[in-house]
Order: sequence, then C-alpha cells, then structure tokens
Amino acid sequence: MSKVVLAYSGGLDTSVAIPWLKEHYGLDVITLTMNLGNLADLETVRERALKAGASKALVLDARKEFLDGYVFPALKADAVYQGQYPLATALSRPLIAFHLTQVARQEGAGAIAHGCTGKGNDQVRFDVGVGALAPELKVIGPAREWGMTREEEVAYAQRQGIPIPGPKKGVYSVDENLWGRSIESGPLEDPWTEPPEEVYAWTRSVAAAPEVPAYVEIDFEAGLPVALDGERLEPLSLVAELNRRAGEHGVGRIDHVEDRLVGIKSREIYEAPAGVVLVAAHKALEGMALSKDQLRFKERVAQEYAELVYNGLWFSALRRDLAAFVDSSQRFVTGSVRLRLHKGQATVVGRKSPYSLYRHDLATYDKGDTFDPKASPGFIHIWGLPVRTQAQAQGEQGR
Ligand code: ARG
Repeated sequence: MSKVVLAYSGGLDTSVAIPWLKEHYGLDVITLTMNLGNLADLETVRERALKAGASKALVLDARKEFLDGYVFPALKADAVYQGQYPLATALSRPLIAFHLTQVARQEGAGAIAHGCTGKGNDQVRFDVGVGALAPELKVIGPAREWGMTREEEVAYAQRQGIPIPGPKKGVYSVDENLWGRSIESGPLEDPWTEPPEEVYAWTRSVAAAPEVPAYVEIDFEAGLPVALDGERLEPLSLVAELNRRAGEHGVGRIDHVEDRLVGIKSREIYEAPAGVVLVAAHKALEGMALSKDQLRFKERVAQEYAELVYNGLWFSALRRDLAAFVDSSQRFVTGSVRLRLHKGQATVVGRKSPYSLYRHDLATYDKGDTFDPKASPGFIHIWGLPVRTQAQAQGEQGR
C-alpha cells in the first residue's frame, strides 16, 4: 500500500484524518508530531496516533531548529504582520512542511497530509512549502475535503472505533509554540466582544498583574538575544524564561483583526510575551547601531518579510534575498536593552552598544558640546535651496 505522512497534532481533526485517509485514499498513514514548545507529553500523542490506526507514529523535538532557523531570522528582520502579529503560527508551518517532506522521502511515501481547513492561511503555507521542497509529493487536506461538522467527526471517530481526544477546552481553536499562542473562533468571532479572560494561558490580566514593575535586561550579539540580566542562556531557555517573566506582567496580549491571504478578515487573539519584548528590544538597539537610512530601508524590508512569511512564501527566493540583507544589517546590532514590564506594557527604558552611533558630545545641550551650530545656517541654506527656487518661480507652495 502506498504511504502518506500526516502532520499530527493529536487533536480531533488530525485523529479522524487517520482512518479517513485509509478509507478514502487507501493509504498507509505515518504520523509526524513535532514539538515546537507546545507539547508536554509526546508519548501520549504517539500512542493516540497508533490507536487511531497509524502504521507508524514519529515524534520530533524541533524546538531549537525552530528558534535558530525560523524565529530568530524573523526577529532580526523585525517581522510583525500588520504591525501586530509576531507570526508564531506562520513561522512554524515551513519547518513542519520541511520535516514532512524529509520523512516522506525516508519512508518512501508519495503524499503528505495536514489537518488544515480550506479557508485559512496554514493550508497555503503547507502546500506551498511542500511544493517548493518536494514537488513530486501530493498534498492532501482531508479537512478541506470531508465537509464534516465537529459532531459528524465525533460520530465518524466512534464508527471507526478510534479514541476521541478529550473534550476541547472551550470553543476556541488554539495553535501554540515557543513564539506564541494563536486563539480564534467562538465568541472571538464578534470583533466587538472583549476577549474573555479564559482565552489567555500565558499572560495575566492587567488587573491581576503585579503592582510593582519588573525590569529585564537583554543582551544581543549581531542581532540575536544571548543573555537575560547578564546570564547567558540558550535560545530555548531565553525565550521560555522571557515568556514567563513578561507574561506574568500581562505583556504580550494582542487583539488583531487581520487580513488572511484568502481574502477574509479574521479576528485573532495572540499571546506572545517573549516575542513582543524581544522585537521591542531589538528595534531599540537597532535605533542605536543603525544609521537613519539603514533604519528607514530596513523598516520596509520588515514589512515585506512579514508579508512573505504570513503568505506562505518562506521558501521563496525573495525571502532568502531579504534574509541576506537582514543578516548583513545586523553586524553591529550588539549591546544591551533594558525594559520595564508593568501592567501589560513592556517599555524600553535604556539601551547601550559598543557600536552605538549615539554621541553624547554631539547631542548634549550641556558642557562638552562638540557640534558646531555656526555651520547650520550654511547647511540649511543649501538644504532649502530647491524649496526657495520653486517658491520664487511658482509662488508660495501649499496655499
Ligand atoms: N491567524 C494566524 C495565522 O494565520 C493563526 C492561525 C492558526 N490559529 C489557530 N487558532 N488555529 O498565522
């Protein structure tokens, strides 16, 4: 029998997909479950896949690879979709797509499958990713084909005699990894409704956050965070620790009506304490170490980069090219940033860098000033020349 490799989360959709793929496509199902920081108990998920009829259930801890290869490049780019979403879900899909194709080749499978619906972004990210890496593989999305409601899925699971994953907590659809939690559906579908407190798992409410602010100091080397409060940490511990500390102060809640690639506006809640803090800190350091022109151009690159990631184009040539520019831009983004965490806000309160372009002797209004103000009128005379010329020839502008 030919084989399919299914991206398996352990939830209802992907569990039902196992017997469904066997029944409708006659395929032998191998599941792949990836831990990107979201799974406590991989063994239970593995057993569930086997009970649902998988011939083989593989699990993979890809947390380090996720941070090094996907999250940190996006952080260096300051990639945040529509100025709000740090792209946790979007960044994970190309990595999962990559491992699906690897397993498919090892196992001699002719297809991969995922549990995405037909109206989201994730299907695009998987399909385009697999298409880029292994165009010979067929991609099957059972959940976009079967047209079953949740109740029908449960009934189907019962008919197939497979265990139904425990009742979902609440009505929400949640995806999470080290870089953030994405929550949608249920009452959140009304954009006028304030998100109920129950949707949050990593962050305290402003009301429940400590009255006293906390401070955190983050060291960066060439654009990458390497230490918290002077203690050098591996990416994994650094991000996990920052999620904990910032989340405790209610930092990282995002309420976003976003534009999906498929043309739908959708209301999504995110929790990304570490992401919010690290992007703010990283930008503050860039403000010290990059020139005005580098900053202006890089801001445009950040937007473009975020669009590419969101729209499933991680493996595009343009994303690679932009990443090369971003890497080059980070040569001197080394130094420390100090932030205050308080009642839902992360505020940069200090920054320093051995490569800082900030010069006190130029900026100061006090003693020690080395700026020559007598040179200013000459500079302004030439700077304003085209405006004066045009005003003389064409009359006062802007009337
Ligand atoms: N809207 C986000 C994205 O497109 C998250 C999607 C997954 N969210 C979820 N709750 N399942 O990247």
